[in-house]
Amino acid sequence: MAIVTGAGQGIGAATSRRLAAEGATVFLFEKNAKTGALTADAITAGGGRALAVQCDVSSRTSVDAAVAAVLAESGRLDVLVNNAGITRDNLLFKLSDDDWTTVLDVNLTSVFLMCRAAQQHMVARRYGRIVNLSSRSALGNRGQANYAAAKAGVQGLTATLAMELGQFNITVNAVAPGYIATPMTAATADRVGVSPEEHQEQVAERTPLRRVGQPDEVASVIAFLASDDASYVSGQTLYVNGGAR
Ligand SMILES: NC(=O)c1ccc[n+]([C@@H]2O[C@H](COP(=O)([O-])OP(=O)(O)OC[C@H]3O[C@@H](n4cnc5c(N)ncnc54)[C@H](O)[C@@H]3O)[C@@H](O)[C@H]2O)c1
Repeated sequence: MAIVTGAGQGIGAATSRRLAAEGATVFLFEKNAKTGALTADAITAGGGRALAVQCDVSSRTSVDAAVAAVLAESGRLDVLVNNAGITRDNLLFKLSDDDWTTVLDVNLTSVFLMCRAAQQHMVARRYGRIVNLSSRSALGNRGQANYAAAKAGVQGLTATLAMELGQFNITVNAVAPGYIATPMTAATADRVGVSPEEHQEQVAERTPLRRVGQPDEVASVIAFLASDDASYVSGQTLYVNGGAR
């Protein structure tokens, strides 16, 4: 049984499809009820088991209620993928309090809330696989002080939870993608006034593999870290960025 947050589109949808294809029952935690339901329906239509759960992962009450509902329904939780994320890019002098707080809440506090809610059940069953979405931006990215801080925080949280939860056979790892072609990066292209294709070409030129990544190429790495093939990997951040340093 797996929970994937922010599963209505992009990397979260690809991860949900991948985990379902590998046989998991996937609960899609998504703020946008429409995209969550559409993605879950598509998985079900393809023969997988998936259910959409409306949840705002930045809200403690929403997270606790959604996790409790899923556990009441399924009785177990093996895999948690903390994927939901947003950007609100601006240079520091234009970054509002709200842009700072909201990005920290959705990208970092959400991971704390979801892990805290999930660990009770994982600890009791002595099994768990947690994968958190960081980003290459954790190393620093102009115009993303809020996002970079949140994604660096995810790496610190991941390393710490791996230490705390390891004794209960729970692994905690992070994946840090570079540029992946999703609605998030399409929105960034729009904001800087170019088409998604032009934006991707610009990024591809400075990427060793000379192309941007696709959601399935992140989903496969998440699926590996969530699988028993990665049973002795914990506390790591794996960059999935086409070879960029
Ligand atoms: N696309 C990239 O290039 C890239 C690179 C590095 C890291 N990431 C990270 O990967 C993750 C997925 O990115 P993506 O490109 O697929 O993004 P996306 O914007 O395409 O999808 C994000 C999903 O999260 C959902 N969401 C947003 N706020 C939520 C909330 N409060 N509660 C529940 N759901 C919420 C959105 O509705 C959306 O469905 C994010 O954490 C992002 O920061 C993406």
